[in-house]
Amino acid sequence: MKNVSYYETIASFYDIIVPRNVRGICDSLEATIGRYGKSKRILDLGCGTGRFTIELAKRGFSMLGLDLTDEMIGIAQKNAKKVDVNVKFIKEDIRNFRLKKKIGVIWARGSIGDIVNLNDVKRAFKNIRNNLLKKGIFIFDVRDFSSYIGRYKDELRSESRVFKNRHTITNFNLSAKLNKRTKIERMTGEIIIQRGRCIRRYEVNHALRYYTQKGITALLNNAGFNILEIQQGGYEFDKDRKPQYVVVVEK
Ligand SMILES: C[S@@+](CC[C@H](N)C(=O)[O-])C[C@H]1O[C@@H](n2cnc3c(N)ncnc32)[C@H](O)[C@@H]1O
Repeated sequence: MKNVSYYETIASFYDIIVPRNVRGICDSLEATIGRYGKSKRILDLGCGTGRFTIELAKRGFSMLGLDLTDEMIGIAQKNAKKVDVNVKFIKEDIRNFRLKKKIGVIWARGSIGDIVNLNDVKRAFKNIRNNLLKKGIFIFDVRDFSSYIGRYKDELRSESRVFKNRHTITNFNLSAKLNKRTKIERMTGEIIIQRGRCIRRYEVNHALRYYTQKGITALLNNAGFNILEIQQGGYEFDKDRKPQYVVVVEK
C-alpha cells in the first residue's frame, strides 16, 4: 500500500513536521468521551508515533495503539519507554483487525483519510463497529472537502518546507492536487534528508480521501452506526483547528 510506504519514509521525523497541539486535542477527546460514558479503555487507530496514545495513558486511560507501519510502531514503543508509560502497541490493519476483547472507545486521528478506496472504507467502518462494545463510541476526523475546495480554488497547492535539528536537515518539496470528482487528494514530490554528508531522496506519492458531511453520514449509516455528532472545523480545544470534520458515532 503506497500510503504506508509514505509513513515508513517520514516516521523518523514525523513528530517534527506535524502540528504539536497534542494536549488541546486530548482535552477535546476527554470532553467528548465524558459526554457519552465513562469508558477508560481506548484503542488509538493509526496511532503513528504514539503521541496521543502516550498522552492519554498519562491521563489515566488504558491505551492500546494500533498501526500498520513497523517504523511508526517502533518509534511509539521507544517514546512510551522514554516516559515510562505502560502502553501496548500492535501491528494491525484498520480494515481487518480483531481485538481479543471488545472496547468502549475507538479513536482515529488522521488515519481514516488514508484509506482511499471506498470499499476499504466501508470494510473499515464495519470492522471498527464489530470491535466496539454495545453503545461503544468511535471518534475520528476526516478532511472537509467543501472547505478545502473553497480555500484552494485551483485544486492545487504546493509546499516547500525545511526542518532542521541537530543532525538532520529535511526538505519537503511537495504538491497536492485535490480531485473534485473523486474527492481524493494526491500528494507528489520528494523529501530530501541530509545527515552530514549523506543525502537521501525519497519520492512521495501519497493519497488522502476528503469527505462531505452527506458522504460521511451515508457511509456511517450504511455500517450501522448511530451518529451522535459531526463537528465542522476540527477539535474543540485545538488551537490549530483545520478544515476537518470531527465525527462521533455509537454502536
Ligand atoms: C497521519 S498519521 C496519524 C498518526 C497519529 N494518529 C497522530 O495523529 O500523530 C496516520 C497513521 O495511520 C497509519 N495507517 C494508515 N492506514 C492504516 C491502516 N489501514 N491500518 C493501520 N494503520 C494505518 C499510518 O501508518 C500512520 O501512522
